[in-house]
Amino acid sequence: MFKNTRQAKTNTIISEDEILADMEDLFVVGPTKLKEIVKHFVGELQKGLDHEGATVAMLPSFVTNRPTGKETGSYLALDLGGTNFRVCEVYLEGQSSVRLRQKKFTIPEECKNADGVVLFDFLASSVESFLKDSGVVPSEKELELGFTFSFPVNQTALNAGNLLVWTKGFNCGNTEGKDVVEMLNQAFVRKGLKVKVAALVNDTVGTLMSHAYNDPQTLVGVILGTGTNAAYVEKIENIKKWKGATPASGEMIINCEWGAYDEEKAMLPLTQYDNKLDAESQNPGQHIYEKMISGMYLGEICRNVFLDLIEKKCLFNGYLSEELKKQNSFETAFMSRIERDYSADLSDTKIVLQDLLGVPNTTARDRRIVRRIVELVGIRAARLSACCIAGLVTQMKKLDGCTVAIDGSVFEHYPHFGNRIQDALRELLGIFAENITLALGKDGSGIGAGVIAALAN
Ligand code: BGC
Repeated sequence: MFKNTRQAKTNTIISEDEILADMEDLFVVGPTKLKEIVKHFVGELQKGLDHEGATVAMLPSFVTNRPTGKETGSYLALDLGGTNFRVCEVYLEGQSSVRLRQKKFTIPEECKNADGVVLFDFLASSVESFLKDSGVVPSEKELELGFTFSFPVNQTALNAGNLLVWTKGFNCGNTEGKDVVEMLNQAFVRKGLKVKVAALVNDTVGTLMSHAYNDPQTLVGVILGTGTNAAYVEKIENIKKWKGATPASGEMIINCEWGAYDEEKAMLPLTQYDNKLDAESQNPGQHIYEKMISGMYLGEICRNVFLDLIEKKCLFNGYLSEELKKQNSFETAFMSRIERDYSADLSDTKIVLQDLLGVPNTTARDRRIVRRIVELVGIRAARLSACCIAGLVTQMKKLDGCTVAIDGSVFEHYPHFGNRIQDALRELLGIFAENITLALGKDGSGIGAGVIAALAN
């Protein structure tokens, strides 16, 4: 990690300033690099639109109409893809107004790595429990459901699609390459539930559609949560690989799957800490961009830095706690807490380190180093997110104005994340950044599945 000059200083105590200067060298992404990334990313988008199998997959969603806000009706939606799994009833009331009733379920860890059938049976039981609680008994006619499934899926119709690859810690057997709608419908049949999937939706597409229900300027949906990705409105003539009919609207929402950006590791400013995280992850070599900016990984990048500094006796006086030895023990939620700690002696950071990570007796110097590393990793994530948002707006030629709806725990709860994106957008787009509205699209993935089911009706 340390620069050659500093490495040469054997037996010298490395100062706080020197440590942090080295960290800044590694983690600060300046405006020139940001611009290079945007240019490269736009090139990758084009490749994905041109042919199958590109790194940024650019998957057609089969959603070709945007809502008017006048759609009405009540729709069942199921939302799988992040930390929680939700079953919702979405009431579209018209006049751009929506009501949502939902129940959250925690997915048992063993379900995430079991055979796919186990996971889909769990999903079907959750729907059954939701319907029981609400007193809804599906009658002769099957209940139609919007299924938000937030993993890369090659859709073959609005209600069919094969899972390409698992991400975000899921790794169920006998599922990749299979039609996930069919798997869920079969699980409903096994349960004797009269429910059927009407639309298969990525969470980014759902976020876009849900926000567009009350803001027609919405052209992009982004998730910055456990994982990351975006969807946007593309002209059909730009989707060279599209072999289907031209929809009347002349457009199609594309699920970019931008988490996979730069799997070649040719552009992103990866550090040894990112590479270690990738090598130790469940999907090495995959979803490299996601691993630099999303909630599942940010804490682990910090932990890797801490481990290195501890080993070099530059932090915690060389003390490595049992807790810190464990992979993923430093959660992204701890970063949010530390970034919110404005006390002079970083007293809440002290509590996090002591009570949650088993590191007692930290010095003020230790805590300042920890806080700065957290901040550097958090700022880098926001700035890299801005690159791909700017890339999409550039691709759409919408610098004159559009709304980007964003959902996900990192955007919603990580302090300053939105402002940091906005700052980077200003560096990238200058005055045009003011035309880009970043809006929180809360619960968009579930609501959007309802909106799409309504349009499919
Ligand atoms: C998945 C995407 C999803 C994103 C956000 C990624 O890991 O590949 O399909 O949209 O996470 O949930």
